[in-house]
Amino acid sequence: MNHSETIQSLIHSFKEAGQGQVFAFFDQLDAAAQAKLVAQASTIDLAEVASLVVEHVVGSHEGGVDVNGLEPAPYTALPANGGDAAEWADALEAGSSALRAGRVAAFTVAGGQGTRLGYDGPKGTYPVTPLTEKTLFQVFAEKIARSGERFEVTIPWFILTSEINNDATIAAFEENNYYGLSKDSVHFIVQGLVPAVDRDGKILLSDKGTIAMTPDGHGGSLRALVRSGAIDTMKEQGIDIVSYFQVDNPIVQCIDPAFVGFHVLGQSELSSKMVPKAYPLEKVGHFCVQDGNALVVEYSDMPNEMQEQTNEDGSIRFNGGSVAIHIFDRDFIARAGGSGEDVKLPFHRADKKIPFVDANGDIVTPDAPNGVKFEMFVFDALPLAKNPVIIEAARADEFSPVKNAEGVDSPHSCKEDQLRMFARWLKAAGESIETDESGLPVFTFEISHRFAADEADFIAQWNALSEKPAIAEGAIVE
Ligand code: UTP
Repeated sequence: MNHSETIQSLIHSFKEAGQGQVFAFFDQLDAAAQAKLVAQASTIDLAEVASLVVEHVVGSHEGGVDVNGLEPAPYTALPANGGDAAEWADALEAGSSALRAGRVAAFTVAGGQGTRLGYDGPKGTYPVTPLTEKTLFQVFAEKIARSGERFEVTIPWFILTSEINNDATIAAFEENNYYGLSKDSVHFIVQGLVPAVDRDGKILLSDKGTIAMTPDGHGGSLRALVRSGAIDTMKEQGIDIVSYFQVDNPIVQCIDPAFVGFHVLGQSELSSKMVPKAYPLEKVGHFCVQDGNALVVEYSDMPNEMQEQTNEDGSIRFNGGSVAIHIFDRDFIARAGGSGEDVKLPFHRADKKIPFVDANGDIVTPDAPNGVKFEMFVFDALPLAKNPVIIEAARADEFSPVKNAEGVDSPHSCKEDQLRMFARWLKAAGESIETDESGLPVFTFEISHRFAADEADFIAQWNALSEKPAIAEGAIVE
């Protein structure tokens, strides 16, 4: 087939699939714009779109989540909350030796659009620390570098981007000298895009020559790791443990030796951290079991009455909140992100305001949801995993995401949570520091993660200092 036949055949396949409108303005485009549209259209899996439309848009799509037989998932409690301290010590040892053996990589999902924050740029380049305003990427890079130093290895870092932010993400790493990491240890993986459709299942154009595409969700990270060859790179490097976290949570323990240990000792394919819910109707996913399989059930899929159930002692029954911190076994990623039908992650429907081109070729910016985008969720891999492990984490030490511009989960709340954490670390190391009743220090200072990656590390590092810096307004421990 020559070039123009190839284009005609592509257009024909869109028409056959009932998506001919994608090329409605093709003849009005110049050659470069035509080439761009053709390139974009050729990445679309029309069969996948057709089945998504039938399942989620034009069908009855009443399915929903079956909550019959749901039970709270068992988990390993923190020693402070009744867990077995010896078990945690064993896990710490096992995890430390897996780290020393170079088996662990960090994996950040940063392909989202961050629309709620309303920041123009990859979210990882957003400044978050309370005093020196280090960016999210800088914070993670420092934690990864410090963990590598602790365990005397180079910990590779895989970062999921999307075509929308990949170039800007790489440019930020280049400009910042890879945030102090070796360039060879950082790997960018571009996730897939899926077309957005209108309420009739028709693919939308964002301008006459561009299809409205959105990233395929954090669940798309698994197939992106497979398609990009990243899991082969991991295999070559002897990495079989992948520490997964989201780009918006600077207090996450990127590399947590005890968590790695529980994963290894449990021979788990997918391990997760849970935090106890703050209140019964908190908007988080719930760790559950159903028919012997672990799963996460979103708050929107669980009736309020269930979310509010209590145990005999009055505690919340479905208490395990998901905070999107996981460890994956590499071979499990190969399976769950591969093409086998039995292990495919499902897509979910999200109704969104999607600017589009109408039949006259005019761009319309809707003020109410007009279309549907499709996303996979990474926690849908949980029921597919053998020996899933769930451990408890302290929210204050693990989870303070930057999602919204203001209020809950905002840059402001996250800065305060970092300050509270720094104050706790100092107190745990035997220092006294003035705080309010919420634990917030009365002045602003910062502990660099190049100095300490977590509390235990901080205590050891602080105690080893021959001269300790005064902790006061503007102090930086580094
Ligand atoms: P969110 O669900 O918070 O979405 O992503 P978002 O796109 O970042 O933000 P909003 O909803 O538009 O405001 C949680 C994590 O999953 C990643 C995000 O980058 C973030 O780290 N993610 C999300 C991806 O990597 N790819 C996606 O397609 C979606």
